[in-house]
Amino acid sequence: MQGERWRNPSKVSYQEENSPRWRAEFFAPVFKEITQSLPEVMEIQSQNRRIRLLATMVPDELVNTANLLKKDPRTFIGIVLLADVSGLTMLCEMYKHAGQGGSISLNATLNAYFGYIVQAVYSYGGDVIKITVRFTVSAGNLTFMVIGGNGSYHYLLAGPPLEEVKLAKKVCLPGDLVLAGSAWGHCNPSTYEYVIKDTYNVKIQSLKTSARQAAKRTTILGKSDSSTRTKLFTVDENFSVYWERIDPYDDLIIAARPAITEAVLRQIGKQLRTFVVESVLRLTDTDQPLEYLTEFRQVTAMYVNVIPMKCSVQDLLRLVDDIFVHLVGMIKDRGGCVIRVWLFHKDISFLTVFGLEKNSNESVSKTALQTGVEVRNLIKNFYGVQKVSVSITTAQVTCDLTTLLRSDLPWDRFIQQDSKMLNGVGFSVIYEYIDDVANFGKTDPELLTGYPILGRKVEMNILSLSLDDIGLANREHAGILVKGQSGSGKSRLLDGFVTLIKSRDIATVTLTLTPEFAIEPYSVIYPILTEILDIDEYCSVEVREQKMVKQLGNVVSLEEFCYLNEIMRVRFPISKRCTSEPEFERQAQTVKILKGIFAMPKVRRCILIDNVQNMDLESWQLLSLILDVKHILFIASIEIPLDDLVPKAVSAIYADKRIAHLTLERINPQCLTALACQILNVQAIPEFLERQLHSKPNKNPSYCQALLTAALSHGGLQRVEMTPKKATEYKIMFSPVHMLTKIPLCALPEDVAPALPWERRLKIHACLISNYHQFESSCQSLETNAYKIDSVIQRAARLLMSHWNISVQPNAQPNQVCSPIKTTKVYSSSSSGYDS
Ligand SMILES: Nc1ncnc2c1ncn2[C@@H]1O[C@H](COP(=O)(O)OP(=O)(O)OP(=O)(O)O)[C@@H](O)[C@H]1O
Ligand SMILES: [Mg+2]
Repeated sequence: MQGERWRNPSKVSYQEENSPRWRAEFFAPVFKEITQSLPEVMEIQSQNRRIRLLATMVPDELVNTANLLKKDPRTFIGIVLLADVSGLTMLCEMYKHAGQGGSISLNATLNAYFGYIVQAVYSYGGDVIKITVRFTVSAGNLTFMVIGGNGSYHYLLAGPPLEEVKLAKKVCLPGDLVLAGSAWGHCNPSTYEYVIKDTYNVKIQSLKTSARQAAKRTTILGKSDSSTRTKLFTVDENFSVYWERIDPYDDLIIAARPAITEAVLRQIGKQLRTFVVESVLRLTDTDQPLEYLTEFRQVTAMYVNVIPMKCSVQDLLRLVDDIFVHLVGMIKDRGGCVIRVWLFHKDISFLTVFGLEKNSNESVSKTALQTGVEVRNLIKNFYGVQKVSVSITTAQVTCDLTTLLRSDLPWDRFIQQDSKMLNGVGFSVIYEYIDDVANFGKTDPELLTGYPILGRKVEMNILSLSLDDIGLANREHAGILVKGQSGSGKSRLLDGFVTLIKSRDIATVTLTLTPEFAIEPYSVIYPILTEILDIDEYCSVEVREQKMVKQLGNVVSLEEFCYLNEIMRVRFPISKRCTSEPEFERQAQTVKILKGIFAMPKVRRCILIDNVQNMDLESWQLLSLILDVKHILFIASIEIPLDDLVPKAVSAIYADKRIAHLTLERINPQCLTALACQILNVQAIPEFLERQLHSKPNKNPSYCQALLTAALSHGGLQRVEMTPKKATEYKIMFSPVHMLTKIPLCALPEDVAPALPWERRLKIHACLISNYHQFESSCQSLETNAYKIDSVIQRAARLLMSHWNISVQPNAQPNQVCSPIKTTKVYSSSSSGYDS
């Protein structure tokens, strides 16, 4: 069309030159003929070439849309054909080494017509390069949608047929054609030779003869005989392959995709560009023919997998869009781009690639790994996201050995995981990348401080006296048992104990027991012994054995080591004496050895066990020995059992006279306001809220926490920043400064200088009631679910974290001191704030 408008001056005919012509401009300027200069015309031609090129990179469904960037999901009935090529990675490798010509040919051929590649491979060397294709077909409702923003868009297709082809792939062998039930339902079984693979899938073996003849007739009628195709390569008698030059604008290709011409007519180049990655755009802008756009580049791929919560289709599509926009925003400036997006019913995946840009000095793997951690941390806080994993494993950022080596990052940032089957790589050991070491302290010094414990002076004094007595032969108590109801503050008190103990330079062993500990014999004593002996709990059996021999050589003879086999999970050779002994004698001998071990290092030590009700009986039988070791103080917390079904280990601990019992009373009412402030991370709360808290019969800290977080997440409460002067306008109650001044985790409140009074500060944070009705309803919902407090806390916490991620973290801090080993039902400093 452009060519028609432009007239070549050299071709102007004689008649045109000599005879006067009625031109449009003679009548009125409005009919003026559009004339263009040569450069303009050339520019238009090159623009059109680019549009055609860009249109080849996106599907017709997109090109045919009126507004390409409109995020308007379209649902239609369609057929999905999945051609799954295996061996492509190997093929690419081979072409890469064959030189650039090879890569060009490979790419051009793949782009032009996939069928030819199969022939090419076989012509090239039979089975040397094994490329196999598996075809699976399904049909049904499909949704096509556009996602993105800020100049970067992507399209995706979703729907049950996609899930079905994925499942069909599992029963489809190389070379097979498998139809999912949804597609098979549209076929006439009498036309095919087929095998039913399973309840959902049918493998098509061949077309029956009559059907084949019918197909042939149609082919002839349709004039799509293979002889009309352009040959893409020729093979000479020596089996050398010569590639024909492939013109992507070849009539054949354009005829096969009228949408390409359509794209030029509609001049949608600008919109098409937003769907193509930057580095490809840069190449297309050079006006190179398609075949010269091929490049082999070593890149680092980052695979982000998101498991959404159960939600409506609309919400799911919104979530994909949201994640995509943020993901692009994060990776774009670091040389990353999103290559593909998959949306399945249960998960969403994004394949991103780093290193397409040539001139990046930074190690690409390093950038990808660091970005991976940030991406995971960001996306996991999205509303509606249940789980995120970056790369190939669950909830971690992992990489293979090559990436690790190329990343220039210190080895101690990687933890070796299992071997995994990696696509195109085969079996490879994978490594988890951790950057928490670097972040801890560096990014958020807040996390190294915490609020002081409230109203537990009596308990702290009792501990203090017991610490004084450590090492005395006639000490009153060898242990302290902290008893309290669920959520009464046992773990928090043990954290406070740890700080006090450490301030006295006394060694600690801390352990939080989950119900699983009760099942496995010696599961509690094992981590305690490894800690005392300074052995890595998770090291190999061999390493453990070596360390034990080294550490215990003086107190345990070589024949005696076998007595520790079960407890220490080792395999020392069983001595003759041990085999011949009856069971009770063997146990007595084990007890004797353990006593020697406990007594051996004369360091003052406290062993703190949170939730001791989960202790296994075997561990308690051996651990009770330590009550006789005068330089060890045993401290445990126990939930007051609500029923009579007390585990044996618990009744044994209860019955032991050497242990002092400390029952946790309700938190002092004077501390309630401060507790609420700590939970909300503010300095003042409304008078109304204070009255509400005092009026509740249940003043259990966990209950207060559940109530406040529920009110916050339902919009009943809001957190505001204001000047102390402004605060006087509201009916709000301040808590004493010392109760809300964060102190280093290793320090005691009395060691820290007093903080500025509230009225002398520039800004304070307070909590206000934003909606009384919402507040009341969240209180009521809590009351009706009194027995489900734990789950309410967890739900509220999750919501809370998504709103106030950073500000609340310090509140979640205190309980982590006591729980570094097994953190299952403890509040930790992880960014989710709460581990469940
Ligand atoms: N004395 C206290 N001072 C400040 N905060 C407290 C105090 N006691 C409890 N809390 C807070 O209340 C919440 C519940 O306390 P904690 O987890 O210690 O209870 P628990 O008895 O260990 O509960 P569970 O039975 O579930 O193990 C925590 O967030 C904790 O920080
Ligand atoms: Mg606890």
